[in-house]
Amino acid sequence: MPYPDAVNCHAVFSSGVDLEQIRRIAVNTGGGDAPGLNAVIRSIVLSALRRGWEVVGIRKGYEGLLDTSKIMQLDRDSVRGITHLGGTILGTTNRNSPFEYPVRVSGGGTTLVDRSDEVVENFRRLQIDALIAIGGDGSMRIASGLVKKGLPIVGVPKTIDNDLSGTVITFGFDTAVTVATEAIDRLHSTAEAHERVFVVEVMGRYAGWIALHSGVSATADVVLIPEIPYDIDAVCAKIMDREARGRRFSIVVVAEGARPKDGEIVAKDQGAGREKLLGGISERLAAEIQERTGKETRTVVLGHLQRGGGPTTFDRLLALRFGAAAVRMVADRRFDVMVALDPPTVLAVPIEVATERMKSVPLDCDTMLTARDLGISFGDDGGGGV
Ligand code: F6P
Repeated sequence: MPYPDAVNCHAVFSSGVDLEQIRRIAVNTGGGDAPGLNAVIRSIVLSALRRGWEVVGIRKGYEGLLDTSKIMQLDRDSVRGITHLGGTILGTTNRNSPFEYPVRVSGGGTTLVDRSDEVVENFRRLQIDALIAIGGDGSMRIASGLVKKGLPIVGVPKTIDNDLSGTVITFGFDTAVTVATEAIDRLHSTAEAHERVFVVEVMGRYAGWIALHSGVSATADVVLIPEIPYDIDAVCAKIMDREARGRRFSIVVVAEGARPKDGEIVAKDQGAGREKLLGGISERLAAEIQERTGKETRTVVLGHLQRGGGPTTFDRLLALRFGAAAVRMVADRRFDVMVALDPPTVLAVPIEVATERMKSVPLDCDTMLTARDLGISFGDDGGGGV
């Protein structure tokens, strides 16, 4: 329901802004999906409708602004009952940036074309007053480029990897950590029963947040993160140290972006305009552990289970808060910003803060220190442990 009159609007949102200038806003979701996307969408739609605005959804990242048949009207009914659902009702993609859009060329292959002017043109033609772009670093980079072309955009940070700067946490991360923790918990009993080593590979791209938080919570013995290239001797020493103390099984959590001291990240090239696909380190690591320690070693790759399904309560609430805050930014006509969590507050930071550098795990952060005090090895300490 729109506010009954403009006076009330200004009474509630007294930011000196003429709210009547906003009539229609758009929302899109870009990059890999993360649990909580639907909660943000619902929060944006309801908060906008309350202000008397119209909301349109742009399907599949920016595809809907290149092919406007993919625009959908979002009303109260379209967002009913979706807060707890995984995925995104708008669809998403982690390819096809409008600035580097892959186009097939005759004779095979693809070339990258800048189609951002079409996005700007369609945005104006559809009389959209503002866009709320929900996404990770790639999406924030696109948003930043479009802001430079004059589009009024507010970003909402999303990624299970938690590697976006400017915000203490992104929604989706808590769900991924919860899934990984539960999985590692389950592996303890089978590892112990068979006296095996388990190597559990988790996502996170070039940051070790998921590995660190799930590894510590689920009492892993070794946690390998991209921020600390590991020494295989140190990993095996930790396993053998446990063996000597009668603990004949071990759990190693490895981030997909981890690499040995003298080696490379395991990744597949996905072609022009696409990020490398990380994954496969657990197989290599397990083979080496088995060979060096003589211990039977198995691998578990958690993969997309970490981002499938509904969000945890923490992620739901954060997503709802981010969505409502983004609408307040639009109402205040604060663009070129991303909403961010600086506990306990949700505030705005310049979008560029999110894209300038990746947020790695600080090696002196409290969770790292806790892990070391608990005797967890990061593959850099010759076995560590107590
Ligand atoms: O960025 C989220 C993420 O799940 C990463 O952790 C992972 O490396 C990547 O996306 C997987 O991408 P895709 O969905 O293309 O397999």
